[in-house]
Amino acid sequence: MTRYSALLGTGGYLPERILTNEEISRTVDTTHEWIMERTGIAERRIAGPGETASSMGEKASRMALEAAGLVPEDIDLIIVGTGTPDRVFPSTACLLQHRLGIRQCAAFDVQAACSGFIFALSVADQYIRAGTARRVLVVGSELNSRLLDWSDRSTCILFGDGAGAAVLGVSDRPGLLSTHIHSDGQYQDLLYVPNSIVTGDSGTGEDDTPYIKMQGNEVFKVAVNTLGRIVDETLEANGLQKSDVDWLVPHQANIRIIAATAKKLKMPMEQVVVTVERQGNTSAASIPLALDEAIRDGRIQRGQTVLMEAFGGGFAWGSALLVY
Ligand code: ACO
Repeated sequence: MTRYSALLGTGGYLPERILTNEEISRTVDTTHEWIMERTGIAERRIAGPGETASSMGEKASRMALEAAGLVPEDIDLIIVGTGTPDRVFPSTACLLQHRLGIRQCAAFDVQAACSGFIFALSVADQYIRAGTARRVLVVGSELNSRLLDWSDRSTCILFGDGAGAAVLGVSDRPGLLSTHIHSDGQYQDLLYVPNSIVTGDSGTGEDDTPYIKMQGNEVFKVAVNTLGRIVDETLEANGLQKSDVDWLVPHQANIRIIAATAKKLKMPMEQVVVTVERQGNTSAASIPLALDEAIRDGRIQRGQTVLMEAFGGGFAWGSALLVY
């Protein structure tokens, strides 16, 4: 029997606090119009003082388990994609496992910045196909707001907080058709967060303050080209045409990057799940959040083909093609 990973259930969690462009424009030199035109972002969510990647991940995970008709004890592997872990170690996946009240199953994080969920999904898929796991909880959870320099208008406008989760189970019918992941560390200086405690840097110089640093326009150019290539790679690997894809669920960094990928697929924006306007860039959480929203509101139906793709720090990028 060919084993496939089937998507059994999804969940999503967004913190209550909404931060609008207008509010940001009161503290840095920017406008709602500039942010909307360049990014498509109108507002984003900001986690409360007690919230962490594991606490938000727990909320999304419990929703995903309920949607799958499962209880935490049914899970035999937990993989969390996050660039904003509660602790350097142990992993956020271990903390999430404890929050869910389960023990013994393997739990680990995957660090691939904004592509964290796709990388985690890819790892989960290998375990299920190999027969070493039957039910895997895959989570993307991010607390980006605490990694932002709120005086830097080029980065603080872009990001938001949230968590999304998916439960995968083994099936003999096609679910995840393929995943494709890539990395290229030569671009590390275009998008990164210093870790001055570990590197021994002072943490006070411009280059080593503990905040997101990004050369946005350089990242933008590579992202558009790379995502175009990964779409081709994914379709070719499955012998599919662009018209076979029902839904595009992209990483939500910038509406212009999303629109460029949709254009490459010759896909009208009605077939693209877009959350960036209300959520900003939630890094590894953005794809599972978008997927959950479109499944819950009935846009994505069972049997439809969904292409997910992401690009982010590393650079690390990837895709997943799913029959839901
Ligand atoms: N408001 C007003 N002006 C601004 C703002 C702002 N918030 N931010 C920058 N500007 C100014 C710049 O200072 C610059 O001014 P100058 O021409 O006088 O020097 C001008 O706007 C143009 O700046 P660019 O950076 O060239 O603007 P661009 O059109 O590229 O838009 C943006 C910037 C939105 C950041 C875009 O480059 C982008 O989205 N990049 C990709 C981000 C991304 O995909 N990241 C990957 C995922 S993130 C992850 O992995 C964690």
